[in-house]
Amino acid sequence: MSKLWGGRFTKETNKLVEEFTASITFDQKLAKEDIAGSLAHVQMLGECGIIPVEDVETIKQGLLAIKEKLDRGEVEFLIEDEDIHMNIEKLLLEEVGPVGGKLHTGRSRNDQVATDMHLYLRTKTTEIITLVEDVQRSLLKQAKEHIDTLIPGYTHLQRAQPVSFAHHLMAYFWMFERDKERLIDSLKRINWLPLGSGALAGTTFPINREKTAELLGFDTIYPNSMDAVSDRDFILEFLSIGAIIMTHISRISEELVMWSSQEFQFIELDDSFCTGSSIMPQKKNPDVPELLRGKTGRTYGNLIGLLTVLKGLPLAYNKDLQEDKEGMFDTAETLEGSLKLLAPMIETMTVNTDVMRKAISNDFSNATDIADYLVRKGLPFRKAHEVIGKIVLYAIQHNKFLLDLSMEEYQQFSELFGEDIYEVLAPEQVVAVRSSFGGTSPEQVQQQIQLAEGKLKQ
Ligand code: ARG
Repeated sequence: MSKLWGGRFTKETNKLVEEFTASITFDQKLAKEDIAGSLAHVQMLGECGIIPVEDVETIKQGLLAIKEKLDRGEVEFLIEDEDIHMNIEKLLLEEVGPVGGKLHTGRSRNDQVATDMHLYLRTKTTEIITLVEDVQRSLLKQAKEHIDTLIPGYTHLQRAQPVSFAHHLMAYFWMFERDKERLIDSLKRINWLPLGSGALAGTTFPINREKTAELLGFDTIYPNSMDAVSDRDFILEFLSIGAIIMTHISRISEELVMWSSQEFQFIELDDSFCTGSSIMPQKKNPDVPELLRGKTGRTYGNLIGLLTVLKGLPLAYNKDLQEDKEGMFDTAETLEGSLKLLAPMIETMTVNTDVMRKAISNDFSNATDIADYLVRKGLPFRKAHEVIGKIVLYAIQHNKFLLDLSMEEYQQFSELFGEDIYEVLAPEQVVAVRSSFGGTSPEQVQQQIQLAEGKLKQ
């Protein structure tokens, strides 16, 4: 069979052109969506009396037969049939004969491809929301076990103030919560239906776009046919949300890599999530979080790639738009793969609570608290800061930490010091007193966890 659009041509397509312009090698991923869109379209054509009801039945049977063959892996797609739309139409013609040619009435590949992409992203976005929640659940599970586990909190990667390990983990919970909100919000725009816009200007047939929208489960239809066939904002949004999610995945991955190093030893990743070295038998490498961190790059590339394709593109459809697909598939698949690994990796990691505890006993992360102590005893904060700076310097020079200094040593710096300073400096105390809303004290973390659980139940 020759090209579906071959009528106007006198020459065969150059083979290189055929290969260069074809998208079937990648857009075959839209086969199910393409068939779903066609089933709804043909049903609507029948209901509007645009094609006879018997033909509608024949075409539907044909489409369903193709779907079954697809499921059984019996379909062979051809480069010369260019893309998924024409491949399926060709298969339909083979299946039901010339009546299959009525399917494309009142439709163009331009509104068809846009519809397929909307359908694809609707499914993927919904799946990804569930996977984000799985990660949130694993964070929550670890957090609940470690409300009283203390870890150094850092700024500039320098020990700053001790925090609850649960508090640190829950910081990621809220990042993923915002990601989930963004995904849910994007569904509003994914749920606009382009089908029925024709090539760009609408169609002469008395179609019923609301009907197609209803059949395909869309909330609304694009009010402008030119916008409908050229809009790829919903894909940009997906790519941008995907890039943000990967940023969060990358940040926690970096911490997991760091924490599992010999230098930190705060956690140990489960053996089943690590790999070995082909030469150094002692090695247990955190390949998974490293690769999660690394894969973030391609999702940024996909976003920038499509932004660049769209920039300066005149209305309406241009073949450039075919470049919207591979990045979208790649980001969707990268997200799925990454989220699926992150959840169980967090859940199965071992937390070395004693190493963490030791770390905060051997640092100056309680220094702010002596400053606050002197302030409570009446010294202005600036003055207190200066006094503590001197104490810290003295301690460093004498190879001691703040809890190691004697009362005489403290009193050399200020007479305001009393025995109660040792209580104030205990890391548990340092954490417990940070009880402002959203702070790291055990009650605050407990409250935060309750709030988080409520979010997951919604
Ligand atoms: N394969 C094309 C794409 O992905 C489908 C739309 C083609 N339309 C056209 N007028 N050539 O964008």
